[in-house]
Amino acid sequence: MIDYSNPKLLVESAKLSKGQVTWKSPSNLAIVKYWGKHGIQLPRNPSISMTLNNAHTITRVSYEARTDFERLFEIDFMFHGERMESFEGKISKFFEQLLPIYPFLKQVKWTIESENSFPHSAGIASSASAMSALALCLCSVEDELFGTLSDDKAFDQKASYLARLGSGSASRSVYSKWSVWGQSGSVEGSSDEFAIAYDTMVHPVFNTFHDDILIVSRAEKSVSSTAGHQLMEGNPFAAVRYQQANKRLEDLCVSMKKGDVEHFGKIAEDEALTLHALMMASNPSYLLVEPGSIEMIKRIRAFRADTKHPVYFSLDAGPNIHLLYPEEVVHAVRPFVESELAPLCVDGFWINDWCGDGPEQL
Ligand code: PMV
Repeated sequence: MIDYSNPKLLVESAKLSKGQVTWKSPSNLAIVKYWGKHGIQLPRNPSISMTLNNAHTITRVSYEARTDFERLFEIDFMFHGERMESFEGKISKFFEQLLPIYPFLKQVKWTIESENSFPHSAGIASSASAMSALALCLCSVEDELFGTLSDDKAFDQKASYLARLGSGSASRSVYSKWSVWGQSGSVEGSSDEFAIAYDTMVHPVFNTFHDDILIVSRAEKSVSSTAGHQLMEGNPFAAVRYQQANKRLEDLCVSMKKGDVEHFGKIAEDEALTLHALMMASNPSYLLVEPGSIEMIKRIRAFRADTKHPVYFSLDAGPNIHLLYPEEVVHAVRPFVESELAPLCVDGFWINDWCGDGPEQL
């Protein structure tokens, strides 16, 4: 186990000058899903994801000497320019977990300003981009104040570790293209504690992949991911699911190395449907797919059967459909999206996204 605890990371308040760091960090789409956790945000099975490009969060963290000592932490949080006190509590909880690692969190006044590239009500989980952006900012602050994270690999690993404590899937957003989180015998260096870049064994076709995010509903999810992970503990299919995820990750790695897009697509779809089947088989059971999601799945499968184009779907823990395909078929797929899928989206809204280059310090 890694121990990042460091009681030495304290600042001398008299010497603390103001500072500011900003990171833009993307969301990601898991192909083999993380669903079920234990201990302190440790996954029950390994997962692999594609880092996106356009669905991202920009977070600016400003710090200065603290003046108000009434609360454990002094945090002002602004979302799209508006103070959001409800989030300050969440960030406080996150900071509390990080205190052994970053004791200076208590010494400083934090102003955190965040914005998403996608509409708040698009039904897109923003925790991966939001928590990774915040974790990256904290690592930059550490580096500015103490000069302790100058090595890029060490920086990314720590950012991924911290992001994981905020939201498991956020650990994977720290890297460009593809990343793996969770220990797997088929991925050297993989760990339950942080994600790693998965870049050397990937056929180039996968780095050209598109993900058109088709917005089926803007409604708030009826069951949060946190509650969903929790329900896996009593799910009668849990043990076999974790075995299956390990095997699928292994198989996916082989397909990604070979450039076997068809097998990749099959695993992506099987994983998406398994995730929702697990929700339906939970106690209490619940359903996050909507009639629009199912209609889209049928149309995507029919389009693939008719045209033989490699076009597949995935789902996150919500009703939105992620349409996956390599760049080489974009000209054939775009008219299909516009004529057959966009009319099923809320207000015709979908996000044109693709495999991205990872976070960027601004
Ligand atoms: O990171 P969380 O706790 O929001 O869980 C995300 C779980 C899924 O998005 C459904 C799957 C995944 O691996 O990203």
